[in-house]
Order: sequence, then C-alpha cells, then structure tokens
Amino acid sequence: MSSLTPTREDKFSFGLWTIGWAAQDQFGGPTRHNLDVVEAVEKLAELGAYGLTFHDDDLFPFGSTDAERQKQIDRLKQALADTGIIIPMITTNLFSHPVFKDGGFTSNDRGVRRFALRKALRNLDLAAEMGAKTFVMWGGREGAEYDSAKDIQGALQRYREGVNLMTSYVKDKGYDIRFAIEPKPNEPRGDILLPTVGHAMAFINTLEHPDLVGLNPEVGHEQMAGLNFTAGIAQAIEHGKLYHIDLNGQKGVKFDQDLVFGHGDILNAFSLVDLLEFGGPNGGRSYNGPRHFDYKPSRTEDFNGVWDSAAANMRMYLLLKERAAAFRADPEVKAALEASRVAEIHTSTLAPGETYTDLLADNASYENFDADSYFDGRGFGFVKLNQLAIEHLMGAR
Ligand code: GCO
Ligand code: MN
Ligand code: MN
Repeated sequence: MSSLTPTREDKFSFGLWTIGWAAQDQFGGPTRHNLDVVEAVEKLAELGAYGLTFHDDDLFPFGSTDAERQKQIDRLKQALADTGIIIPMITTNLFSHPVFKDGGFTSNDRGVRRFALRKALRNLDLAAEMGAKTFVMWGGREGAEYDSAKDIQGALQRYREGVNLMTSYVKDKGYDIRFAIEPKPNEPRGDILLPTVGHAMAFINTLEHPDLVGLNPEVGHEQMAGLNFTAGIAQAIEHGKLYHIDLNGQKGVKFDQDLVFGHGDILNAFSLVDLLEFGGPNGGRSYNGPRHFDYKPSRTEDFNGVWDSAAANMRMYLLLKERAAAFRADPEVKAALEASRVAEIHTSTLAPGETYTDLLADNASYENFDADSYFDGRGFGFVKLNQLAIEHLMGAR
C-alpha cells in the first residue's frame, strides 16, 4: 500500500458537520441534501479515516425528544460497530439556536447560561458513553459586536465558571475526558472571547483544573488573525497543551474559508506537518492525537465533490508528510540546517551551573566579543534553507 493511502494509524477524523454541511450560507440556501450519519460513517471508513466527531445537534436536531435522540445514538453505534470507526471527540452546539444569540456560557442572560451548562453537561455524558477522549469547546457566540454591550472581565469570569464546572463534573464522574478550547478571533461574533491560541493558553492557567484543559487550535482561525499557525502550534506543544487540532485551509486575513487542508497557505501547512510528524524532541511525532479535519466542501460541489474533498484532506496531509520526510532526509538540508545553526537553539545560553556572576566575569562574552563581525559577515543562510524546503515541497528534489 502506498504511503499516500490513508490508514487507521494515520488517525484521520472528520466532523459530521463538515462532510454533512448542506452548503447554506449568508447569501443562499443549501445546495446539497442533509447527509445521514450512517452514510457518513460508512463513507469515512471506506476512505480510510478512523474517526467521526460531532456536535449534539449534528446527530439529533435541537429539541429532539428523548426517543428521537436515542434512536440516532443507536443508529450511530451500530454503524460504528459495523465499520470500526471511533468517536475520538464530541462537542456541543452552543451557537446555532436563537437562545444562544448572545452566547452560551457568557450570555448576559443568566437563564441562558444555566441552560447552556445543562446542554453541555448532558453532552458530556454522551461523550463518555461514546468513548470520546476529547471534549472540544468552541465558543463561537461567546463574544460581542459592541464594546459597550459586553463586560469582558465579567464574561471571562463566567467562562471560567463554566469550564470549572465541566472539569469538576468529569472528575466526580470519573470520566476519562479532557477539554480542548478552540480559539477564533471573530465570526460569527464581531469579536470572540479567547481569540487566539495565546489568549486561550493564558486563560487555561487561571482554571481550577488546568491539567484537564488544553487547546484545539484551527489552522484558519489563527491565519484569519494574520498569525503563523505552525508557530502557535509549536508553542502549544511546548506548553503541553495541544490536546486536539482542526486542520483546514485559509488564504490570508479574511472570513473563515474552511478550505481543504493545504489548499490555503501551503508553506505553513508543510511546516505544520513537519512539526507534527518530525518535530518531536527526538525527531519523532510531536503530537499523537487525531488529525481532525474541520473544513467545508465548497458550496459548488455535489456529493462526488464532497467525498473527493474529504479524500483530498487526507491525501494533502500524507503528501506533505512524504515531502517533509524527504526534506529531513536530504544531506544538503542537513548541511544547511547545520550552517544555519538551527540545532544550536537547544544549547542553553549559560553553561550548566554558570551564574550571572560568571557571565559578568566572562570577557569572551562581551569585552572581547566581536559584534562588528556581524556586519558584512556571519550570515545565517536561512534563505538557502528555505529554498531547499520549498523545493522539497514542490517535489523538485
Ligand atoms: C467554526 C469552528 C467550528 C468548531 C466546531 C467544533 O469556525 O465554525 O471551527 O467548526 O470547530 O464547532 O467545536
Ligand atoms: Mn472554523
Ligand atoms: Mn474548528
């Protein structure tokens, strides 16, 4: 089997709301019928994915009776048993229904906040029942359009109260579930709370059980804010906070495009896959969780296009993995990395046991240090290294 054929070991997963998106947008209605969950599971299994993820409302519409809800859960369970697909992650829809128009956990309306907590707790029970290990929290409606309308400090306190309640519930119930907060700068709200990886990471440190809470960063969300996604992921990994990841494609600072992974900023996608697959401390995988695609099959597509695009996400990932492996193995790249002193960043700046007194006494580090040699000399060779990376990405080497 070619390394470009997805297997269960690749841990590719898809949101039911991605392949199941009926393609309605602000300017027009659906262009496709609603996808049934059983068909979704069967098709994903056929394509080589290992997991399906969903919001409560994706599986059973908001307001379903207990019997309708159970029927859908049972149908899904049967499809999982038939195919071996698993549910690595579950998430709650606290954004579609009008009741959440000012948010869930942080609505100004306390009654809505209590309702949101109940909806999320019920879904947490379902997550445990389905064996999901990650519970994503994307607070798309947690925000505001107008500065005068939302007391941000109060809203953050209510957000914290909500997440703390969820983590104590999981602990008390003994569920083997961790939470992953998904940052996004805007859309659907004018401004969303916890807009970037950095904001969310700082927030997590203020929680009662920070060990139970990490991140689910999405490629497009950081790039909508003009940020470097790979760099954000590296920081999340360095903080031990990459609990889940949403892969897709985005072309610059604009609305959330949700393109196929790699169909946006492909250079950043290349460095991301290189980091996830080969950027660990010993050169191995730095992240072992699901490779989760949160994209939208374009509105122009019929179901052939839906499945082609689902397959394209996985193929892009595997192609980038292949190119990154070739990049890492190339002796010229190794020499260029050496010339650019990339590995030297791992040598601590002070020697083991050295103090600032020792540093102050070290004439070689200052008095005799030749700072002027950095003018017209001592270039780092980063451009040559980057050219090699791009040539590998293009398959030119
Ligand atoms: C978006 C988000 C969502 C979340 C999903 C899971 O921009 O709409 O990316 O797709 O990932 O709600 O919580
Ligand atoms: Mn998104
Ligand atoms: Mn997402």
